[in-house]
Amino acid sequence: MDRRDFIESCSKSAACLGAATLPNTMAWAAYTQAHEYAKALLCNAQGEPVKASSLKVNTNYVFHYPFEATPVFLLNLDKAAPPKSLNTKNKDTYAWPGGVGANRSIVAFSAICAHQLVYPTPQVSFISFRKSRSTKGVQDNLIHCCADHSQYDPALGAQVLSGPAPQPLCAVLLQHDAKADTLTAYATLGGEMFEEFFKKYEAKLSLDIGAKAKNKIIATATVHELEKFCRNAVQC
Ligand code: FES
Repeated sequence: MDRRDFIESCSKSAACLGAATLPNTMAWAAYTQAHEYAKALLCNAQGEPVKASSLKVNTNYVFHYPFEATPVFLLNLDKAAPPKSLNTKNKDTYAWPGGVGANRSIVAFSAICAHQLVYPTPQVSFISFRKSRSTKGVQDNLIHCCADHSQYDPALGAQVLSGPAPQPLCAVLLQHDAKADTLTAYATLGGEMFEEFFKKYEAKLSLDIGAKAKNKIIATATVHELEKFCRNAVQC
Protein backbone atom coordinates (compact mmCIF):
# COMPACT_ATOMS: atom_id res chain seq x y z
CA MET A 1 0.00 0.00 0.00
CA ASP A 2 1.45 3.40 -0.94
CA ARG A 3 0.83 6.61 0.93
CA ARG A 4 -2.05 7.68 -1.32
CA ASP A 5 -3.78 4.34 -0.75
CA PHE A 6 -3.11 4.71 2.94
CA ILE A 7 -4.68 8.18 3.09
CA GLU A 8 -7.69 6.86 1.17
CA SER A 9 -7.95 3.99 3.60
CA CYS A 10 -7.67 6.44 6.45
CA SER A 11 -10.70 8.29 5.22
CA LYS A 12 -12.58 5.04 5.74
CA SER A 13 -10.90 4.20 9.00
CA ALA A 14 -11.47 6.22 12.12
CA ALA A 15 -8.27 4.70 13.51
CA CYS A 16 -6.43 7.19 11.33
CA LEU A 17 -8.58 10.24 12.01
CA GLY A 18 -6.48 13.36 12.09
CA ALA A 19 -3.26 11.59 11.18
CA ALA A 20 -2.36 14.39 8.78
CA THR A 21 -3.47 17.21 11.03
CA LEU A 22 -1.75 16.51 14.30
CA PRO A 23 -1.20 19.73 16.22
CA ASN A 24 2.36 20.84 16.74
CA THR A 25 1.94 20.87 20.47
CA MET A 26 1.62 17.17 21.18
CA ALA A 27 0.86 16.32 24.75
CA TRP A 28 3.27 13.63 25.78
CA ALA A 29 5.38 12.71 28.74
CA ALA A 30 8.91 11.41 29.05
CA TYR A 31 9.70 8.91 31.75
CA THR A 32 13.37 8.17 32.23
CA GLN A 33 12.54 5.85 35.12
CA ALA A 34 9.83 3.21 35.22
CA HIS A 35 6.40 4.87 35.36
CA GLU A 36 4.50 2.37 37.41
CA TYR A 37 0.85 1.46 36.93
CA ALA A 38 -1.20 -1.32 38.51
CA LYS A 39 0.29 -4.75 37.89
CA ALA A 40 -1.49 -6.84 35.27
CA LEU A 41 -0.90 -10.56 34.83
CA LEU A 42 -0.94 -11.47 31.15
CA CYS A 43 -3.66 -14.05 30.45
CA ASN A 44 -5.12 -15.78 27.43
CA ALA A 45 -8.70 -15.38 26.22
CA GLN A 46 -9.78 -18.12 28.65
CA GLY A 47 -8.40 -16.16 31.59
CA GLU A 48 -5.46 -18.50 32.16
CA PRO A 49 -2.01 -17.03 32.73
CA VAL A 50 0.09 -16.99 29.59
CA LYS A 51 3.23 -19.09 29.96
CA ALA A 52 6.19 -17.14 28.67
CA SER A 53 7.65 -20.27 27.14
CA SER A 54 4.44 -20.81 25.15
CA LEU A 55 4.75 -17.56 23.19
CA LYS A 56 5.49 -18.29 19.56
CA VAL A 57 8.69 -16.76 18.25
CA ASN A 58 8.36 -13.67 16.03
CA THR A 59 4.58 -13.66 16.38
CA ASN A 60 2.69 -10.43 16.89
CA TYR A 61 0.63 -10.51 20.09
CA VAL A 62 -1.48 -7.65 21.45
CA PHE A 63 -2.78 -6.76 24.88
CA HIS A 64 -4.04 -3.50 26.39
CA TYR A 65 -2.14 -1.60 29.07
CA PRO A 66 -2.06 0.62 31.08
CA PHE A 67 -5.52 1.74 29.93
CA GLU A 68 -8.42 -0.21 28.44
CA ALA A 69 -7.95 1.58 25.12
CA THR A 70 -4.16 1.61 24.77
CA PRO A 71 -2.76 -1.38 22.83
CA VAL A 72 0.63 -2.97 23.39
CA PHE A 73 2.65 -5.25 21.14
CA LEU A 74 4.05 -8.34 22.88
CA LEU A 75 6.81 -10.23 21.06
CA ASN A 76 9.00 -13.24 21.71
CA LEU A 77 11.98 -12.47 19.51
CA ASP A 78 14.28 -15.06 17.96
CA LYS A 79 17.20 -13.73 19.98
CA ALA A 80 17.96 -12.10 23.29
CA ALA A 81 17.26 -8.36 23.47
CA PRO A 82 20.04 -6.78 25.57
CA PRO A 83 19.57 -3.57 27.58
CA LYS A 84 19.81 -0.41 25.52
CA SER A 85 20.26 3.29 26.23
CA LEU A 86 17.65 5.30 24.32
CA ASN A 87 16.52 8.90 23.95
CA THR A 88 13.11 10.51 23.72
CA LYS A 89 12.63 13.23 21.13
CA ASN A 90 13.64 15.81 23.74
CA LYS A 91 16.88 13.90 24.35
CA ASP A 92 15.81 12.53 27.70
CA THR A 93 17.94 9.42 28.10
CA TYR A 94 16.50 6.26 29.58
CA ALA A 95 17.83 2.76 30.08
CA TRP A 96 15.58 0.16 28.50
CA PRO A 97 16.20 -3.03 30.50
CA GLY A 98 15.97 -5.47 27.57
CA GLY A 99 13.97 -8.62 27.13
CA VAL A 100 12.64 -10.91 29.86
CA GLY A 101 12.02 -14.64 30.04
CA ALA A 102 14.40 -17.58 29.97
CA ASN A 103 16.00 -16.33 26.74
CA ARG A 104 15.67 -12.59 27.52
CA SER A 105 13.74 -12.40 24.27
CA ILE A 106 10.27 -11.25 25.37
CA VAL A 107 9.57 -7.55 24.90
CA ALA A 108 6.55 -5.24 24.95
CA PHE A 109 5.95 -1.78 23.51
CA SER A 110 3.02 0.55 23.20
CA ALA A 111 1.46 -0.05 19.76
CA ILE A 112 0.71 3.66 19.32
CA CYS A 113 3.04 5.01 16.62
CA ALA A 114 5.28 7.74 18.01
CA HIS A 115 4.83 9.76 14.82
CA GLN A 116 1.10 10.38 14.44
CA LEU A 117 -0.46 7.87 16.79
CA VAL A 118 -1.68 5.19 14.38
CA TYR A 119 -2.68 2.11 16.38
CA PRO A 120 -4.22 -1.33 15.89
CA THR A 121 -7.96 -1.81 16.30
CA PRO A 122 -10.15 -4.89 15.82
CA GLN A 123 -11.08 -3.51 12.39
CA VAL A 124 -7.68 -2.61 10.97
CA SER A 125 -4.03 -2.22 11.86
CA PHE A 126 -1.58 -0.12 9.89
CA ILE A 127 1.19 -0.86 12.36
CA SER A 128 2.52 -4.32 13.14
CA PHE A 129 5.57 -6.52 13.57
CA ARG A 130 6.93 -8.00 10.32
CA LYS A 131 8.92 -11.21 10.15
CA SER A 132 9.97 -10.26 6.63
CA ARG A 133 10.78 -6.75 5.57
CA SER A 134 8.04 -4.82 3.84
CA THR A 135 8.43 -3.16 0.46
CA LYS A 136 9.95 -0.13 2.15
CA GLY A 137 11.54 -2.08 4.98
CA VAL A 138 15.16 -1.76 5.93
CA GLN A 139 15.43 -5.20 7.54
CA ASP A 140 13.40 -8.15 8.76
CA ASN A 141 11.80 -8.37 12.20
CA LEU A 142 10.82 -4.73 12.65
CA ILE A 143 7.64 -3.03 13.78
CA HIS A 144 6.48 -1.13 10.70
CA CYS A 145 3.90 1.67 10.53
CA CYS A 146 2.41 1.97 7.04
CA ALA A 147 1.29 5.57 7.54
CA ASP A 148 4.70 7.10 6.82
CA HIS A 149 6.91 4.02 7.07
CA SER A 150 8.42 4.49 10.47
CA GLN A 151 10.22 1.33 11.49
CA TYR A 152 11.15 0.34 15.01
CA ASP A 153 13.52 -2.41 16.09
CA PRO A 154 11.98 -4.36 18.98
CA ALA A 155 15.35 -5.97 19.75
CA LEU A 156 16.75 -2.48 20.40
CA GLY A 157 14.01 -1.17 22.67
CA ALA A 158 11.90 -0.09 19.67
CA GLN A 159 14.57 2.33 18.52
CA VAL A 160 13.62 4.09 15.28
CA LEU A 161 15.60 2.69 12.33
CA SER A 162 13.77 4.49 9.55
CA GLY A 163 10.98 6.99 8.93
CA PRO A 164 9.74 10.15 10.60
CA ALA A 165 8.97 8.86 14.11
CA PRO A 166 10.86 11.15 16.50
CA GLN A 167 11.39 8.65 19.29
CA PRO A 168 11.10 4.95 20.16
CA LEU A 169 7.77 3.37 20.91
CA CYS A 170 7.04 3.71 24.62
CA ALA A 171 8.31 0.58 26.37
CA VAL A 172 6.00 -1.49 28.55
CA LEU A 173 7.95 -3.20 31.31
CA LEU A 174 7.31 -6.84 32.16
CA GLN A 175 8.22 -8.99 35.13
CA HIS A 176 8.85 -12.67 34.45
CA ASP A 177 8.11 -15.09 37.28
CA ALA A 178 10.67 -17.80 36.47
CA LYS A 179 8.99 -20.40 38.68
CA ALA A 180 5.45 -19.93 37.34
CA ASP A 181 6.71 -18.82 33.91
CA THR A 182 4.17 -15.99 33.89
CA LEU A 183 4.44 -12.39 32.74
CA THR A 184 3.19 -9.28 34.52
CA ALA A 185 3.08 -5.77 33.06
CA TYR A 186 3.83 -3.13 35.67
CA ALA A 187 5.13 0.10 34.13
CA THR A 188 5.99 2.14 31.07
CA LEU A 189 9.32 3.72 30.20
CA GLY A 190 10.26 6.40 27.67
CA GLY A 191 7.97 8.70 25.72
CA GLU A 192 4.32 8.16 26.64
CA MET A 193 1.76 9.36 24.07
CA PHE A 194 -1.39 8.47 25.98
CA GLU A 195 -2.68 11.98 26.69
CA GLU A 196 -2.47 13.00 23.05
CA PHE A 197 -3.90 9.63 22.01
CA PHE A 198 -7.00 10.13 24.14
CA LYS A 199 -7.39 13.67 22.86
CA LYS A 200 -7.01 12.73 19.20
CA TYR A 201 -9.28 9.70 19.24
CA GLU A 202 -11.83 10.88 21.79
CA ALA A 203 -14.82 10.45 19.48
CA LYS A 204 -13.74 7.09 18.11
CA LEU A 205 -12.84 5.68 21.51
CA SER A 206 -16.17 6.83 22.86
CA LEU A 207 -17.95 4.91 20.10
CA ASP A 208 -15.72 1.83 20.19
CA ILE A 209 -15.09 1.40 23.89
CA GLY A 210 -17.30 3.90 25.71
CA ALA A 211 -16.69 5.44 29.07
CA LYS A 212 -14.22 2.78 30.17
CA ALA A 213 -11.63 3.72 27.51
CA LYS A 214 -9.51 5.57 30.06
CA ASN A 215 -9.99 3.01 32.79
CA LYS A 216 -6.73 1.64 34.04
CA ILE A 217 -6.04 -2.03 33.50
CA ILE A 218 -5.98 -3.79 36.84
CA ALA A 219 -5.02 -7.33 37.79
CA THR A 220 -5.11 -8.99 34.37
CA ALA A 221 -4.66 -8.13 30.70
CA THR A 222 -5.83 -10.40 27.88
CA VAL A 223 -3.32 -11.37 25.19
CA HIS A 224 -4.40 -12.09 21.61
CA GLU A 225 -2.48 -12.84 18.47
CA LEU A 226 -2.75 -9.76 16.26
CA GLU A 227 -4.20 -11.83 13.44
CA LYS A 228 -7.04 -12.88 15.74
CA PHE A 229 -7.46 -9.47 17.38
CA CYS A 230 -7.55 -7.56 14.08
CA ARG A 231 -9.52 -8.43 10.94
CA ASN A 232 -7.22 -6.55 8.58
CA ALA A 233 -3.55 -6.22 9.47
CA VAL A 234 -2.44 -4.05 6.57
CA GLN A 235 0.83 -4.96 4.89
CA CYS A 236 2.71 -2.32 2.97
S1 FES B 1 1.80 7.55 12.02
FE1 FES B 1 3.36 8.28 10.66
S2 FES B 1 4.78 6.63 10.66
FE2 FES B 1 3.25 5.95 12.02
